[in-house]
Amino acid sequence: MIILKYAADVISQLKKLRLTKSSTGFVPTMGALHKGHISLVEKSKEICEITICSIFINPTQFNNADDLKKYPVTLENDIYLLEKNGCDILFIPGVSEIYPEGTTLKKHFDLGYLQSILEGKFRPGHFQGVCQVVCRLLQITNPTHLFIGQKDYQQCMVIKRLLELENFNIELIISPTLRKKSGLAMSSRNLRLNKQQKEQAAEIYKTLLILQQKIKPGSLQYLKKEAEEYLITKNFKPDYIEIAEADNLKTVNQWNGLTELVALVAAFIGDVRLIDNILLKNQPVSIRNL
Ligand code: PAF
Repeated sequence: MIILKYAADVISQLKKLRLTKSSTGFVPTMGALHKGHISLVEKSKEICEITICSIFINPTQFNNADDLKKYPVTLENDIYLLEKNGCDILFIPGVSEIYPEGTTLKKHFDLGYLQSILEGKFRPGHFQGVCQVVCRLLQITNPTHLFIGQKDYQQCMVIKRLLELENFNIELIISPTLRKKSGLAMSSRNLRLNKQQKEQAAEIYKTLLILQQKIKPGSLQYLKKEAEEYLITKNFKPDYIEIAEADNLKTVNQWNGLTELVALVAAFIGDVRLIDNILLKNQPVSIRNL
């Protein structure tokens, strides 16, 4: 695996590889890699001839300075994992390489309502920062395929919109969320949880399973309230529990029983904010120990 720090080197390295290879998969990350990230690398290797991954903790997407300071850094292990899993190029830029004109956002991306709902409401500016960095990384890596995880459901929608807005001819591949045995969604933020909090965090998935099991056509207000109360009894501080149309994220209070829905949760355990989601297919699932 070739490790590069500068955009110009990435561009020239890719140019050489593209003399004989035609497809490039790009996996953008902020490091602290786990099996979820590695599954994206694996998917890219399955589909593409070149796989490039980036590690960049993007300051412009953190609306909370403390969150940025506490973001886990595990670079040595990340490099080991990527090398082991056959990543071809790892791009680890510094802030000035991504933002040569400084981190004050210069361009506004028209994300419409996606910007002000759910994560957008609780993390103002977050998705503008995500678009800023992803746009720059795509300009540098110019991939044929972009791989991201379903765990950040709204981010997937935002990036889909970004590709349309900027006319990127890139295939977006969204991979399913990987979970621990307990159901806890794999996330870099889990590194900030202690053992007891990790056990507690699994309740988020249980809450989503309850929603999936209990949903039926008609009003969804009571169900959402019930799920929120369940999380509060498990010592979470929920930011939101919402149900939305799966393909556009428009929130719904009344369900016709047909439209595909997604349930989304954001909640704090101590000072760690976790998000998760599940597609609601109105099929009975077995929930143990509730
Ligand atoms: O999901 C992430 O890790 C980040 O938001 C991303 C897409 C790498 C942009 O910084």
